[in-house]
Amino acid sequence: MNLAVFASGSGSNFEAIIEAINNGEVRGEIKLLVCDHPGAYAVKRAEKHGIPVFTAVLKTFASKAAFEEAVLAELRKHEVELVILAGFMRLIGPVLLSAYEQRILNIHPSLLPAFPGLDAIGQAFAAGVKVSGVTVHYVDAGMDTGPIIAQECVKIDESDTIEDLQRNIQRVEHQLYPQTIQQVIEQIKGSVHS
Ligand code: GRF
Repeated sequence: MNLAVFASGSGSNFEAIIEAINNGEVRGEIKLLVCDHPGAYAVKRAEKHGIPVFTAVLKTFASKAAFEEAVLAELRKHEVELVILAGFMRLIGPVLLSAYEQRILNIHPSLLPAFPGLDAIGQAFAAGVKVSGVTVHYVDAGMDTGPIIAQECVKIDESDTIEDLQRNIQRVEHQLYPQTIQQVIEQIKGSVHS
């Protein structure tokens, strides 16, 4: 299955998905990285792995719709079937949502619906919760509101610092996202054949 990953930052999840593909755990191919920050480390990771990059900076377009039309043209060019958001710091708008209905996934570092939006790890830490976690969900028009596909808990011990929590969340993300992507790929393949 042809995949595109969208990232704005470091891209450690992007890298985990590349590894899972190389190990045969995810049966897909990343055709494209879409990035809205030219200096993002995710771009370096893509270059290292020979993955084409489409960098699109929102403010250089006349509108968000025009930005998404440009992204959509690239996705079509690469025959992308499933879009994976991995630290992409923008809401997806109607152009992409209607072209990729039920075909856009996101990962969020909390047990949604708790702590949506920015700095979910900081929010959870400040709230003093004893359990947080990771959610993978389909993307809809809201902020971290789409149907949940998978969740995994991460315990927060009394002695944990926010850095410990960050590390523990990331460790879970790097397992859960590839696993869930493969599940979704199987589901799509099943529904196409039936
Ligand atoms: C992850 O924590 C993910 O849950 C959130 O953004 C972060 C991206 O991290 N959506 P990375 O760029 O994959 O390292």
